[in-house]
Amino acid sequence: MRKRVFFIFLSLFLILSCSERKELVGPGRLGVRAEKAMVVSAHPLATKVGLDVLKNGGNAIDAAVAVQFALAVVHPSAGNIGGGGFIVYRTRDGKYFTLDYREKAPAAAHRDMYLDENGKADSGKSRQGHLAAGVPGSVYGMVMAHEKFGEMPWRSLVEPSVKLARDGFPLTEKEADGLNWVTEQIRQYSTVMPSNLEREEWHEGDTISWPGLAVTLERIAEEGAEGFYKGKTAKLIVEEMRRGGGLITYEDLANYRAVWREPVVFDYKDYKMISMGPPSSGGVAIGQLFGMVSHFPVGEWGVNDVRTIHVMAECEKLVFADRAEYLGDPDFIEVPVFKLLDPEYLALRTALISLDKARQTTKISAGQFIEEHEETTHFSIVDAEGNAVSCTTTLNGSYGNYVVVGGAGFLLNNEMDDFSSKPGVPNMYGLIGGEANAIEPGKRMLSSMTPTIVEKNGKLFMVTGTPGGSTIITSVFQNILNVIEFGMNMQGAVDFKRFHHQWRPDYIQYEKGRFDRALRKKLKKLGHSLKKRDAIGRVDAILVREDGSLEGGADPRGDDTAMGF
Ligand code: GLY
Repeated sequence: MRKRVFFIFLSLFLILSCSERKELVGPGRLGVRAEKAMVVSAHPLATKVGLDVLKNGGNAIDAAVAVQFALAVVHPSAGNIGGGGFIVYRTRDGKYFTLDYREKAPAAAHRDMYLDENGKADSGKSRQGHLAAGVPGSVYGMVMAHEKFGEMPWRSLVEPSVKLARDGFPLTEKEADGLNWVTEQIRQYSTVMPSNLEREEWHEGDTISWPGLAVTLERIAEEGAEGFYKGKTAKLIVEEMRRGGGLITYEDLANYRAVWREPVVFDYKDYKMISMGPPSSGGVAIGQLFGMVSHFPVGEWGVNDVRTIHVMAECEKLVFADRAEYLGDPDFIEVPVFKLLDPEYLALRTALISLDKARQTTKISAGQFIEEHEETTHFSIVDAEGNAVSCTTTLNGSYGNYVVVGGAGFLLNNEMDDFSSKPGVPNMYGLIGGEANAIEPGKRMLSSMTPTIVEKNGKLFMVTGTPGGSTIITSVFQNILNVIEFGMNMQGAVDFKRFHHQWRPDYIQYEKGRFDRALRKKLKKLGHSLKKRDAIGRVDAILVREDGSLEGGADPRGDDTAMGF
């Protein structure tokens, strides 16, 4: 009897100490399922526009074009025709293409344009108003993607957005809140206040239309790139610039080109990842993160083990330090992509990580985050043939530079703030930049956008990406790890709370609920500083499950919606 009691106690002790060592986290919620095709985007109306294209026989690129334009109408804080972005495309037979339609600095831009007479960076000028705008790339990007891969008539892809902008649509609560927040800024920075925004207060369910934007989109539907970069729209943009003291000229618009770039491709265990190369830092950064984290058994440790969090944060610090030094526009500087992803180099970097102690970041004044300004948007699409699009597009800050182009009804970006205005001075995401990302005429500003596609054993496995400024990189990293190392469903992986370290400022930011008190204590003991904050990212992703069906992960932090068939 005594022996039995002893064994019961011993087993209980073993069970308890094991659960102490490895906290199990379940697969989480199961997302929307579909047999053949799916769209996940930041807004239900944009998702529906993309889904209709797929149902009518369009492919993933056709749907992406339609979703990009629809987001410009229904999600104007980030969806855009006045900004830029990146597409990662994987064809059903496993070919990869990456399209760069990032904005460019106007020809009259120069490296010290945001410095005041004392040589101090004036972040107001690079973030708000006309001087903050880069030459938009989105319309050119859509035209190029469609020319190479589109199958549906161009007009049919723009038309749904013309209709939404012209006839109006009901606001979600979040979109109404956004408009209430931004109206005053638009009044302050635009030279012509758009009449559709003249309203005391917006509420969920109110109908809003964008008549000026409808006419601009109609020109794009009719004339393609010429409907934006030349003729009436170009005239309206240039006149807006002249009235507001901006730099974009007719020549800047006429000279804009999007570019097909080399994808960044790397392996992690049984997986191959395809992501965006420079001028995005995203692909290189997650390549480095996966290369370094592969030296640690994070899957065995578990998602909530202090060693996992510590190692991920330490890898992130090293990656963001490289980002600041080496990354920029490959048309202007030599970016050492292969050296940065070289396994030997990554092994050396990994060797700097101690499991016992957080590595101290050199003490310099830390940048402050302006959290509500992290705005970009991502959508993921798989069509019925198995082609996949991962697209991230942005105005940079929420509602860009707050300038609605007079008579043209769309917001301009404030992407110039993604350059380093002055080496060592943080941008709105607290990111420090160096010479590689200094302003030059015609140059593209460094981005963190990380649209990514994952293959498993040569087959499409996952399509993912997110907004969130500098947190994009670490959110994509966590989202993929959540599925492939920690066994979560797609929706569960998207729901799961996130954290982020970017080297400087020297603290781990975390969403409320990500670390419990015990974990916080352990992280502090290792030397980490912690900072709780609001939502990190809005991941919209698709997973191909073992039976070949699709599961969507639509981020509950926003209005994000998955639909499929
Ligand atoms: N504007 C945010 C980014 O491109 O990283």
